[in-house]
Amino acid sequence: GEISKGDFEHFMLKEIFEQPQTIEETFKGRLKPEYPDIVLGGLLNVFPKITAAGRIIIVGCGTSWHAALIGEYLMEEYARVPVEVEYASEFRYRNPVLGKNDVVILISQSGETADTLAALRMAKERGATVLGICNVVGSTLARETEAGVFTHAGVEIGVASTKAFTAQVTVLTLFALKLAKTKGTVSTEEYQALVKELAEIPAKGRAILQNSNHIKQVAEKYKDVVNALYLGRGTLFPVAMEGALKLKEISYIHAEGYAAGEMKHGPIALVDDNLPVIVVAPHDAYYEKIVSNIQEVKARKGNVIAIVTEGDTGLMGMANDIIEIPKSHPALAPLLAVIPLQLLAYHMAVLRGCDVDQPRNLAKSVTVE
Ligand code: G6P
Repeated sequence: GEISKGDFEHFMLKEIFEQPQTIEETFKGRLKPEYPDIVLGGLLNVFPKITAAGRIIIVGCGTSWHAALIGEYLMEEYARVPVEVEYASEFRYRNPVLGKNDVVILISQSGETADTLAALRMAKERGATVLGICNVVGSTLARETEAGVFTHAGVEIGVASTKAFTAQVTVLTLFALKLAKTKGTVSTEEYQALVKELAEIPAKGRAILQNSNHIKQVAEKYKDVVNALYLGRGTLFPVAMEGALKLKEISYIHAEGYAAGEMKHGPIALVDDNLPVIVVAPHDAYYEKIVSNIQEVKARKGNVIAIVTEGDTGLMGMANDIIEIPKSHPALAPLLAVIPLQLLAYHMAVLRGCDVDQPRNLAKSVTVE
């Protein structure tokens, strides 16, 4: 039937708030915290080929490409397999080195993005194993891949992807951990601990959503800026890019997401007392590094909005605004850290009077080149 916004002002906000539930849907039948283990039924037949692969290449566009980058960090870290991430529009035209020892994962919410489908067909022709991560059952991508895993985010109406992204990251996390377990590149102890922690992510997501009003207050302070910079490290670097993409798509504010360590190689030139710098800075192995990035921004009078681990007081007095997220294992932090960035973009765009569900010039799915 017809999908309604319910009590929400926009589909995008409804979809942001659905994420704890859509992540749970994506876990269903796959995450078994009681054993604890992960089962990926859709990949059972091809798993020997995946385990033997010399390389995994993940291909997508837009937000799906950002999810892929998080998958790269997790697969290399845990499964110790070389991973490359490609924009479908580049991959399909650049005659990549590709053969039957490669596993190519096509990732697409719609399963209908023209460049991603062209990349799929090329990879297939060259003998690679082609797998799909897709949100639409019966889509072209789902039909043309050998095997895959569906994200169960439900229909996404907002043009700016939110719940489909976290569902993709959920699948990639399950995939990376299962592959690591199968290859023996993660200890049973760490694997089981991660499986149990994954099961806690939806509840932690719900806690972040309760901060929506605080994030709206932050949005009010910065809604009139012309530029914004997003910084993160490790798996939170793609999250920074995704945060910047959300803001750019729906508020038309120019935004860039950068690896925090690269700031000094360019974006630092933009820092002045008008620039908000959104820094994803939870308490992890990169914390000291990112604090020094924050100091560099503050020394140039930039305004820092820091996403920090709940209870971390280390950035008080340094950051202009602080948004807390619950403590989690660093491997799982992307699923939490992206939520405040989605909300920040949403509130800023609404305050600017933008049509957040149907931003100008953008299409939900780019089915022609
Ligand atoms: C369009 C949408 C984005 C999406 C991208 C890839 O640009 O506006 O939200 O991330 O296409 O779409 P896909 O369906 O392949 O994930």
